[in-house]
Order: sequence, then structure tokens, then C-alpha cells
Amino acid sequence: MAPHKPGELFSVNARTLKPSAIEAIHKLLEEPGMRSLAGAWPDPLVFPTAEISKIVVELLESLGDSALQYGSTRGHPALRRALADLAESQLGARITADQILVTSGSAQGLDLACRLFIDPGDVVLVGLPSYFGATATIASQGGINFGIPLDGQGIRTDLMEDALRTLHRDGSRVKAVYVIPNFQNPSGITMSLERRRELLDLADRFQFMIFEDDPYGELRFEGKHLPSLAALDRSGCVVHFHSTSKTFSPGMRVAWVAAQSEVIDQMERFKQASDISTNSLAQLILLELIQSQKLQEGIDRNRAHYRRKRDLMLGLMGEHFPDEVDWTRPSGGFFTFVTLPAQMSGDDLLLDALEERIAFVSGSAFFVDGGGLNTFRLSFSQAEGADIEAAIPCLGALIKKRLADRN
Ligand SMILES: Cc1ncc(COP(=O)(O)O)c(C=O)c1O
Repeated sequence: MAPHKPGELFSVNARTLKPSAIEAIHKLLEEPGMRSLAGAWPDPLVFPTAEISKIVVELLESLGDSALQYGSTRGHPALRRALADLAESQLGARITADQILVTSGSAQGLDLACRLFIDPGDVVLVGLPSYFGATATIASQGGINFGIPLDGQGIRTDLMEDALRTLHRDGSRVKAVYVIPNFQNPSGITMSLERRRELLDLADRFQFMIFEDDPYGELRFEGKHLPSLAALDRSGCVVHFHSTSKTFSPGMRVAWVAAQSEVIDQMERFKQASDISTNSLAQLILLELIQSQKLQEGIDRNRAHYRRKRDLMLGLMGEHFPDEVDWTRPSGGFFTFVTLPAQMSGDDLLLDALEERIAFVSGSAFFVDGGGLNTFRLSFSQAEGADIEAAIPCLGALIKKRLADRN
């Protein structure tokens, strides 16, 4: 019998899928002895492990049936009510429990939103640079990622207006813009209030949705919290994605989407067709942590923890990186983004670094226009202090060597 060739039966969509940068990072993280500044992973030191063991025992004793049973597709009702209250107090957004869909990570929320809004050939505007998990999701639906540069204030709304006019003139349908307004992945940049307002104004004038991805917003180290796009939205154009992956535990896979009811109703139907419901036990654990204030206490501790790591990394970069190199100074989140002199390559530097057992993510993975070749992302979240102390001077020396070889 001839061997089966499933690849020949793959859908047209599947044949366009490219290997993901996330897979490559996971492989690097698994290598023994690797000092990794690559992943967007939280520090396992801050996981509330003992707390969770205790809650699980109590939950199984008191609510064993529902904790182990299927739950409603939209999410546990009491959790959705608690999340709506948090949205009001923290994001300043008036959202009812009915406007919330609990998802398996923001990754699923984004996937459902893309299924809902994107037909093959539709355009989504994304930052240059932008989180490659999201651009891959958009592409997996046949969407076209169109890059708009960022500056220190976030996505360049002035350039976006020109791009929108050109795209409309060329007959393209722009369905959405994807942004990470707080401590963006990968740049660490926060979108200013003025830009947030300009973006909402553009969305109303050109009639597109705003996908606001906000997994890092609660991890602000200093300065004033800015209102979310969801809070500023007056016309119902924002789909807000919130995750507990960076503030609590990514393995729990609990996140939520907030949007106007019509959007949430349709996303719920897609979710039902996808995985029926999000993990019931994980939702109940999160609910207990919210109700006992332990979630918030944990986030406050995490903030101080990551601020120390950011300070350590930025301080060492200041000491060891040459003057020709520039980098962002994030006031929260997990990342700083480094720009090398124009002719230097982040990919080449990564090869040098891997030989020294140091990993980071080369910037080209974040640029949908093929740019960013002289950039890279450093994450201070997961690596231990000692690894940061060893890796940054070594990276500085590698950059200086490349610069000297060039001259
Ligand atoms: C900007 C951004 N959005 C979404 C995600 C995925 O988060 P989740 O674990 O909630 O799926 C990540 C993870 O790195 C991220 O950085």
C-alpha cells in the first residue's frame, strides 16, 4: 500500500503557514546551560505555587463537581462578573459581565477575533515592530499584515492616516489595527494618551476595529497609568484582550476578551466550535485569587521584582554597550529593544551569542516588512539576576568586536 501523503490534502490556508518564531524560541529555552534573554516568559520565582496548591485542595473539596466539569463557553459567570469589576477599577472601562468572553490565553482571543473579522486578503495594520505571535495569527486567517512604524509615543498615527488613504484607493479592505499600547512586545514602548485618542479617531473615520492587546499593562514600574483604548472608546470599535499569563501563570491559560455584545456573541460561537470551554479548574482558581485579593497582592510583588531586573539589565547595558548602540527604557513589562548601527545584523550577533550560550530574539522576526535587521529584543523577565550579570557584559563585548571588525 502506498504511504499516505497528508500534506497533499492540507488546506490552501495551511500550505501558506510558515514555521513560527515561537517554536524556535522554545527550542532555545530548552537547551541546557543557555542563558536566555529570549522568551516573553514570566519568572517562575513569582508563581504563587503554595497558594495554588492550597486553593486546589479546597476547591476540590467544596466544588469538586463543577471544578472538574465542562463550563459555559463564555466563561464561569462569577469570574466574568469579577473580571468586569476589575476592568472598571483598573482599566477605567465600563464593561458588563456579558461583554466578557473567557479564553484559553489571549492567543485564543486573538485567533477568534481574526476568524470573526478577517477574510483572506483583508488588511490589518500592525506596528513595526510587533509581536510575531499576533502577526502569525492574522496571517493564518489569510489576513495581510501591513506595517506602520513606531516611535517613542507608540504607533505613528500620522503615517497611518496616509497608509489608510493609499490602501483604500488601491481597493484594500482594512479591517483592524493590532496594537499593544502598554510596554509593547517587543519594543517596551507605551503609547501616549494623545496617540490613543488619534487612533480611536482614525478607527471611527475609517471604520476599522482596534485589537487592543494588553498582557503587560498591570506591570507598570513607575509613572501614571494611562487609560486603556477600551476606556476611551465611545463608538464600540475596541476589542480588548487581557491575559493573566504575565501577571499570574501562563500555564493556567486564563485570559479574557472584552468588546461590544455583538462581537462577544459571535466570538463565543467560534470558541464553542474550537474548544467548548476554557479550563474550569483554572477559572475557579483565578476567581478565588481575585476574591481574596491575592491576585492583586501578587501583581504588586511582581512589579517590584521585575523593576529590579529591568534596572539591573539597563544599568549593565549602560556600562557595557558601546555608544553606537541605542535601546529603549521601558517603564514596565518585560522587554528592552536594541538598535545596532545600520549595517550590523541582529541575526549575526545572535549566532555569536549562541556560541557563548546566550539567547535573545533577533529583531527581524518582529518586522512584517522585512526590516529591523539591525535590531534585537532582550527580555529581563525570566533570566536569573546572575545570568543577566553574565550575559550583558558578554553581549557588549560581542557587539564591540563586530564593530571593530567592521572598521
Ligand atoms: C503581546 C502579547 N500578546 C499575547 C501573548 C500571548 O499571551 P497568552 O499567554 O495570554 O496567550 C503574548 C505572549 O508573549 C504577548 O507578548
